[in-house]
Amino acid sequence: MNIYRTMYLCSIAALAVAAVAAQAQRRPQPEPAWAHAAWMNQSLSPDERADLVLKELTLDEKIDLIHGEGMAGWGKPNQYALLGNGGAGFTLGVDRLGIPIIQMSDAAYGVRSSAMNGRYSTALPSNLGAASSWDTDAACQYGALIGRELRAQGYNMTLGGGVNLTREPRNGRTFEYQGEDPILAGTLVGNRIRCEQAEHVIGDIKHYAVNDQESGRNEVNTIISKRALQETDLLAFHIGIEIGNPQAVMCSYNAINGDFACENKYTLTDVLRNQWGFKGFVLSDWGGTHSTEKASAAGLDNEEPGEVFYGAAYKQAVQDGKISMSELDEHVHRILRAEFAAGLVDHPVHKSVVDVFGDLAIARHIEEQSIVLLRNQNHQLPLSMSVHSIAVIGDHADTGMISGGGSAQVDPPGQPTARWGQHVWFPTSPLKSIQAMAPQAKVSFASGSDPAAAAALAAQSDVAIVFVNQWSSEGMDLHDLTLPDHQDDLVAAIAKANPHTVVVLENATAVTMPWVNQVAGIVVAWFPGSDGAPAVANVLFGKVNPSAKLPITFPLSVADLPHPTLVMPPPHSEAAAPVQRHVLTSPTFSVNYDEGVKIGYKWYDAEQKPVLFPFGFGLSYTTFRYSGLKVTPGEKPTVTFMVKNTGSRAGVEIAEVYAALPASANEPPKRLVGWSRVALNPGESKDVTLSIDPMYLSIFDEATNQFKMLPGSYTFMAGGSSQSLPLHGSVNLQ
Ligand code: BGC
Repeated sequence: MNIYRTMYLCSIAALAVAAVAAQAQRRPQPEPAWAHAAWMNQSLSPDERADLVLKELTLDEKIDLIHGEGMAGWGKPNQYALLGNGGAGFTLGVDRLGIPIIQMSDAAYGVRSSAMNGRYSTALPSNLGAASSWDTDAACQYGALIGRELRAQGYNMTLGGGVNLTREPRNGRTFEYQGEDPILAGTLVGNRIRCEQAEHVIGDIKHYAVNDQESGRNEVNTIISKRALQETDLLAFHIGIEIGNPQAVMCSYNAINGDFACENKYTLTDVLRNQWGFKGFVLSDWGGTHSTEKASAAGLDNEEPGEVFYGAAYKQAVQDGKISMSELDEHVHRILRAEFAAGLVDHPVHKSVVDVFGDLAIARHIEEQSIVLLRNQNHQLPLSMSVHSIAVIGDHADTGMISGGGSAQVDPPGQPTARWGQHVWFPTSPLKSIQAMAPQAKVSFASGSDPAAAAALAAQSDVAIVFVNQWSSEGMDLHDLTLPDHQDDLVAAIAKANPHTVVVLENATAVTMPWVNQVAGIVVAWFPGSDGAPAVANVLFGKVNPSAKLPITFPLSVADLPHPTLVMPPPHSEAAAPVQRHVLTSPTFSVNYDEGVKIGYKWYDAEQKPVLFPFGFGLSYTTFRYSGLKVTPGEKPTVTFMVKNTGSRAGVEIAEVYAALPASANEPPKRLVGWSRVALNPGESKDVTLSIDPMYLSIFDEATNQFKMLPGSYTFMAGGSSQSLPLHGSVNLQ
């Protein structure tokens, strides 16, 4: 038959099918058999409902629930491939009982894969960027936006929620996480998940745990003491789980003290279930499952994205009596329970159009709260709207701003799916946004590819604004924290040509700045999302008074890091591949995290190393004064002090409280234990009262396997950064 005739007949057939489907949608549907089933009773608990469903399941249906059905581009599609929604994976439901398919999508800073599926997603600022707001409300808006956009696109589970601590700032995924402090990171990720899951998508927290470098992530064994593990990465997860109540935890690729994270009984059962009481399910990172029996016994509930170990092999193990039916039932129960608890059964997904304009405004607002002002010599900023001439310099500064890569990548409008490793720029133009802010100024552009020409342009302008970028991605680490592509030389040349030079960083993580004292202003925009440029312009021109503070330390040099040289995998390794396609039975190399609890500022404090910009640092266009610290002991000690806006502009101050534990605790000099965002008009003062969770004042005692607060003298310190703490007060506790 002629090919065109075949195509014609096919399209007629497709139209007919679509018409029937549309008719069916319009016609009232007969009620499904399960509509009045006992488990549809919403007054029962998720556990009760899950148990009622479990009783109805065949062995094959149970097995279907504990593994994924593949991912486009990952092996051969199976017979269910067409049931997927175009995301990273899905797990079958039980149609005859009203249990929906779990449609999963990556959604670190926005919903992934929109290009491939012909959809649109908003890119929020990177997770690390948004963490700079220290704002639990912004974290909630962040999560809610992603939850809504997931559902609009047909998903009911997110794979976002990364909270690995910045133990290694060169980690290529640092931008997907929430910084170096467990209390700040855990609180922010928890609030993000809380609001994401309230949209009736299963919330996920990842990568559990200590997946703190990407180099050799599939084969690295992380060596770390129990105490350090509990007080650092695990504490961030614990706080995130307590606040956000995510129904899923994704175990990571790496091994922890000898056992791969997805078959690690200590982290998956002893800590997650027994110590913290987690009731949701654990899914493996993609290809992160290494066994059937060991993983199942350790506490892995769901293998993703396929069924190498949790399909036929699992069924066989049950039939052979190697895995008990009750062990399988427990895994299935947790998955069903999660579907009920997050509302997947009671609130089925109905696709809709993403609220493009509303969500752009949210993305811009969060970015405005996330931009950190690091330097402002002689009040260079805010710029006057009546400035005569501005040179805008930098790669893409005329057309866009860069974003983070890997499975976090969000596709910009008008662009095809990005290749793995491609640098993706969102069409948000710094040049246009700056011109819009100063319409009468002459605003000129130079890409910086010819530094001499850019310097000449800067010399002729009142102000030079240089946009520099540092891209990174999953599956790689940065060699160092130097700006790539000779951008340091470009900044130095511009600064030499014009003393009114302001640098805007579009950065993944910390950056070293050999030119720090040569420029007038430094603004950290991070990966700023879909509407980054207007947010940056609003800060540059003072429409928004910056309030954000660094959630990571910017060191002077990588030589000051706990591990100046990244520990790399052996040469044969597949570390460069985004994911491991064959399964290792044991790790091939180790990283010894012997710095223990000394992550970020705790390391620099303890080692007395000076830094470029400290944790918690960020300037405002106004100034604040702290006074009158009072500490009241009690079950939850309270810290009270006053903050006054001593400048002439309204502003928000993130007031930070740190504690030094008694010497017997043998801890770094101080730890963050609380903070408050205080909005103040010029001249206004406010009292700040923070009650401190005793857990935040505790240490993990390996002998008794629990957190405990030691009796003794505690010093509380308050101020505007980890290195500017004018108020001190000591008190004996317990
Ligand atoms: C990443 C996960 C991601 C998954 C699915 C893995 O390579 O580590 O964070 O959710 O892929 O895309």
